[in-house]
Amino acid sequence: MEELKGLILSGGKGTRLRPLTHTSAKQLVPVANKPVLFYGLEAMAAAGIKDVGIIVAPETGGEIRDAVGDGSDFGLNIEYIEQDAPSGLAHAVLTAEPFLGQSPFVMYLGDNLLRDGIVELVQSFRSESPDALILLTPVPDPESYGVAELNGDGGVARLVEKPAEPKTNLALVGVYMFTPAIFDAARSIEPSWRDELEITDAIQALVERGLRVDPHIVHGWWKDTGQVQDMLEANRLILDDLQERVDGEVIESRVEGRVVIEEGARLERATVRGPAIIGRGSRITDAYIGPYTAIGDDVRIEKAELEHSIVLSGSSVSDLAYRIEASLIGKNVSIRRGPALPKAYRFVVGDNADVQIL
Ligand code: TTP
Repeated sequence: MEELKGLILSGGKGTRLRPLTHTSAKQLVPVANKPVLFYGLEAMAAAGIKDVGIIVAPETGGEIRDAVGDGSDFGLNIEYIEQDAPSGLAHAVLTAEPFLGQSPFVMYLGDNLLRDGIVELVQSFRSESPDALILLTPVPDPESYGVAELNGDGGVARLVEKPAEPKTNLALVGVYMFTPAIFDAARSIEPSWRDELEITDAIQALVERGLRVDPHIVHGWWKDTGQVQDMLEANRLILDDLQERVDGEVIESRVEGRVVIEEGARLERATVRGPAIIGRGSRITDAYIGPYTAIGDDVRIEKAELEHSIVLSGSSVSDLAYRIEASLIGKNVSIRRGPALPKAYRFVVGDNADVQIL
């Protein structure tokens, strides 16, 4: 078998994560202070893959290149492949055909997280040699996903995108393994109602051609971070495995449970209850940081309480009467109480933001 390559999809529109994705690629939004995309790159490296192509959009490609570089930090050789428009996952596969050539490959959606990585499925793909291998996981709401139906011998019989009446609860996870047979299958399909070349249709075309598509059931968690609630949930899942480490300064403060305080961070008269992470250069003063919170680099939190939230780098939160909960706060945001009475709200909030006063 030719050497296995990797393909990470990091283009797309990211409409569901606006307003953050107006200024930034959604794959670079950090989960537990690390861009989502990096988890996929690390999974590739752990599975022994060396050559990885990253599909990027013209608008956000530069930013992704700046963050990932040539891949040497991950032990990978990375090539960037520009997709002219977000015309679907199967369109992305066709765009990458010159890079992939005759190699079998793992395709990984750049905004997905898979707890147990891809080592095991790479092994089963190598030993079983199917034409494609898809990952499936049981979900409570299959009508929101691509759903697989299996045949009597355990192979994939049919894939249906968001079925109104799902026949199984097995949802397609955003990681796939393909042989070059996928290219002809992708060329044979028509765009869907949303005008995208869908990967589910291309895989269905493989099945219809009598090719072998194996299912692989994922048991560890899997998360698609396409929406804010998913992002917070992914943050919670990753923080749950955090290893305690205090490299910053802790002055008259309490640090409870599994907490990471990065170098250059400073707590003063603060309580941090883990699992939580405080990034480099951040200052937490007279404040409470509760479980499942990731505070990025160079953030200031003063006289405020936060829990179950993500705060991106350069932001500040101060003098709040109530606790901030289940929130995703972008880069260089300032949230503070004004000095004057009468009490009033005053906002300068970007397009498509969601502000809830509870
Ligand atoms: P999606 O989340 O399905 O699509 P999207 O990025 O357009 O997001 P939204 O629905 O919020 O507008 O995409 C899954 C992953 O694949 C994501 O990392 C973006 C990437 N992608 C591409 O690289 N090319 C594409 O044509 C599409 C549709 C997605």
